[in-house]
Amino acid sequence: MAMRGKEEKMNRKKIIFATKNKGKIKEIKVILGDVFEVISMEEAGIDTEIIEDGVTFEENALKKATEIMKISNEIVLADDSGLEIDFLNKKPGVYSARYMGENTPYSIKNNKILEIMKDVPIEQRTARFVCVIAAALPKPFNKNFTVRETIEGIIGYEIQGKNGFGYDPIFYLPDRKCTTAQLSMEEKNKISHRGKALFLMKNELKRILR
Ligand code: IMP
Repeated sequence: MAMRGKEEKMNRKKIIFATKNKGKIKEIKVILGDVFEVISMEEAGIDTEIIEDGVTFEENALKKATEIMKISNEIVLADDSGLEIDFLNKKPGVYSARYMGENTPYSIKNNKILEIMKDVPIEQRTARFVCVIAAALPKPFNKNFTVRETIEGIIGYEIQGKNGFGYDPIFYLPDRKCTTAQLSMEEKNKISHRGKALFLMKNELKRILR
């Protein structure tokens, strides 16, 4: 069994994950690393800036994956994610990182959302994190596809928790009675949009590449 594990590790297929975010790469290596050799753009020696100008998560993720696949001729994955708030017509959505300006601290962005929604009743506070992961496979596969996962919650009435990043301190999970910023990284990965999308992608790739 140990020998088989070693062999599997040696035969792992190389995958480039098109992100410059070191935290994400670490998380992705934990989830995909037993089956695939995941390398970052930096590790692959690629330093291309890709403009995320799509209006859907799918468009942005596919653009990043296909452009890097064309440059590298390797299997490439790329993700795009964001927060959809139903009361705000699913905004900030694909513009989550750019909402109120890319360099505006999340303490300010989160407080702004709480302020806008201060009188909104609980049943109208529904929201979700969405994660789309795109795969671009070179020849002989010649195939692009996406997977999408979400985690449903509500926008809380106050900032709570210090873990995670971005909008986590205002994203409240009613069944757990806490925000995603109050979960450990391991707990969040099991139920999050990104964790679930990575598992889905892992299974799809195992099926296609076997
Ligand atoms: P990107 O997928 O790296 O482009 O991230 C888009 C943006 O969505 C992030 O900068 C955050 O604002 C938001 N976001 C995505 N996933 C999460 C999450 O798990 N927690 C909090 N914010 C998130």
